[in-house]
Amino acid sequence: MGGTWTDNVFPETELVSGNLRLRAFGAGDVEDVRLACSDEEILRWLPLPRPYDLEAARGWCTDFSHHLRTSGDGIHWAITDRDSGRLLGTIGLKSTDWTAHVSEVGYWVAPWSRRQGVAVGATRTVAGWLLGECGFERLELRAATGNLASQAVAERAGFVREGVLRNAGHVHEGRVDLVAYSVIPADGLGLPKVEARTITD
Ligand SMILES: CC(C)(COP(=O)(O)OP(=O)(O)OC[C@H]1O[C@@H](n2cnc3c(N)ncnc32)[C@H](O)[C@@H]1OP(=O)(O)O)[C@@H](O)C(=O)NCCC(=O)NCCS
Repeated sequence: MGGTWTDNVFPETELVSGNLRLRAFGAGDVEDVRLACSDEEILRWLPLPRPYDLEAARGWCTDFSHHLRTSGDGIHWAITDRDSGRLLGTIGLKSTDWTAHVSEVGYWVAPWSRRQGVAVGATRTVAGWLLGECGFERLELRAATGNLASQAVAERAGFVREGVLRNAGHVHEGRVDLVAYSVIPADGLGLPKVEARTITD
């Protein structure tokens, strides 16, 4: 792609790296997404509907996650196990600036898949694709100052801590400060080789 964008929309793309396969959400993910997003740790750090019911999960899997891509805001993937196909979590890009070639990554991992390197692996996969094949110049990541697990993911994935954005985020409990991280091509991270496949209708 080399950074030549005609319509400022990420094409629907599958990414494969290591034991992970990142693909678009579908109707078959609804029950797993409902289950995962009912987890207290996810609801603590992400301002999702609470309670997170089947309607919310269906809306995300079949409509909203796709709309966010076609609107140009970013792209959202279901993180799945490459062999079994099991849903492990989600990762996505948002607030994409198509002029500056900057985007922001966010994620959650289902309770049944945590502490197995899923978030770090998926974050490195997306960073490798965005800064490599897509020719982007900067990928940002923000985590609440209290969210130590997400900060550890950022650091293990090789992101550089830049500072604290005061009062920049919100969770169900109220406003939070966010730690800002980024990765840029000059960091020379040695990002993983990513197999990318554009999906055409
Ligand atoms: C944060 C989150 C995505 C981590 O996912 P994960 O796949 O379990 O993370 P990884 O296995 O890649 O963990 C990488 C490292 O992060 C750290 N880490 C992960 N979870 C942690 C926890 N609960 N407490 C402390 N450190 C943690 C560890 O250092 C871990 O490495 P190790 O297991 O080798 O010690 C997951 O806990 C989650 O979904 N949390 C709720 C939603 C959320 O906070 N999203 C991010 C919003 S910014």
